[in-house]
Amino acid sequence: MRLLRTRAELLSWRHLEPDRPLHFVPTMGALHGGHQSLLRRAAERLDGRRPRVLLSVFVNPLQFGAGEDFERYPRDLERDGQLAAEAGAEALFAPELSVIYPDGPEGGTRVLAPAPLQRELCARSRPGHFDGVATVVCRLLALVRPDRLLLGEKDWQQLVILRRVVADLGLPLTVQGCATMRGEGDLALSSRNRYLQGGERQQALALPAALRDLGAAAAPGAPAGPLLALVRQRLQEAGLAIDYVQLTAAHTLRPLPRVEGLSLLAAAVHCGSARLIDHVFLMPRPPIVAIDGPAGAGKSTVTRALAARLGLVYLDTGAMYRAVTWWVMRQGADPASAEAVAPLLQNLDLQLSRDADGGQRVSVNGQDVSEAIRSPEVTALVSQVAAHGCVREALTDQQRRLGEKGALVAEGRDIGTAVFPDADCKVFLTATVSERARRRAEDLRQRGFAVPPLQELEASIAERDRLDSSREVAPLQQAEDAVELITDGLSIDAVIQALVDLFREKVPEEAWPGPGGQPRA
Ligand code: PAF
Repeated sequence: MRLLRTRAELLSWRHLEPDRPLHFVPTMGALHGGHQSLLRRAAERLDGRRPRVLLSVFVNPLQFGAGEDFERYPRDLERDGQLAAEAGAEALFAPELSVIYPDGPEGGTRVLAPAPLQRELCARSRPGHFDGVATVVCRLLALVRPDRLLLGEKDWQQLVILRRVVADLGLPLTVQGCATMRGEGDLALSSRNRYLQGGERQQALALPAALRDLGAAAAPGAPAGPLLALVRQRLQEAGLAIDYVQLTAAHTLRPLPRVEGLSLLAAAVHCGSARLIDHVFLMPRPPIVAIDGPAGAGKSTVTRALAARLGLVYLDTGAMYRAVTWWVMRQGADPASAEAVAPLLQNLDLQLSRDADGGQRVSVNGQDVSEAIRSPEVTALVSQVAAHGCVREALTDQQRRLGEKGALVAEGRDIGTAVFPDADCKVFLTATVSERARRRAEDLRQRGFAVPPLQELEASIAERDRLDSSREVAPLQQAEDAVELITDGLSIDAVIQALVDLFREKVPEEAWPGPGGQPRA
């Protein structure tokens, strides 16, 4: 592993393998299992490419207040180097103060973290701390220029703030949050745990225990007052000195009067000379992801893979509309006539089940139609059938029932607007008409159907878009709070990764770990 001390050394290391993505883990050193887990995550292959992993160790004076532990913060670069190499780091950037702050920490440009995210939690007792963090991280990012920045969910307020800083400044990188690593008694791993002496380690366990137990007992809608009082009582009984105990919205960090949406129950305490922070997330139901977009944008393939990656159930609502269309054709009814279609819905038993790959199988009145509904004939008529109010109503009801327990990712045209307007993560997945025509041709070729000329395909896709977006009932529309993802030129793996990253912006790993649960130290 390379030790880089100067800007020049960092630059020449950066230029060694410019084609590999660069993943960056900034730290203040005194590495522990939590940092190692970040490094291991950073070293994971993403969309088929093996990243380079860089760790920085820099104890940033700007983020310590008067009387805090800057002077005695543990420093042991040799050991940090060993632990980092063990966990897959290829280089360690350990700059002197003057490399990061050529004009001294007080001179030069500073970054102010967003004020609304600094009203509660740690910002209240550590004024200026997050401005110091934002300043040093921006300076580090400008030097390192990584593709991906990995941060622990342990410092949740820091993660929320840095995500915002990166977004607001339009920095071209992805921020990835990783679940807190916990040790014995669920104590969150932290460099400051080294300050705990003798029985203090045992005493400190009351912090995760109180948050976990009382958080788990808090039902959706439970008022914050009594919940916070109970946590305070537990911490006081353990002899911990409370800095704060708060219930806030997980992303805006605004105090909540009651448990609602994704809520953060967080506390900071002093135990001996250590200041410890911890939190739990309270979630009313497992997450729902809504993926909408026009026909042929490749939604099915990536949504199915996303569901498998996140441990969610895959719901292909387009297949449900196709199944109704198949049934209408089978009955010889006029697909354009709502009067003809409505009675057919009475005798329709549409069932969804999972195949071994996590894909969705569809049956109509006991017959498996999963392949038949993909025929060009069904494709040509599905928009017409799906535009009938009676069809929309019947299928939306069925979809909502399937979504009651959450833990699903649904794709369609109106998932984020009509079916699950309260979805936790909404994506509008699209591609240009010419790109979709090219993909449609490829798909037809692979499935042995005749392939019309590209121009014809483009015209029919454009027409379908027009029909889908202009119909009166549930038109194809991007939900206001959806993120648009244009997939032209992206590999399937890259789209799936982009979706995972969008999901993780909304749903922390600690709230929904996905398959396999959270790793422990
Ligand atoms: O979380 C930390 O260790 C620090 O706040 C960071 C992000 C390295 C900035 O100094």
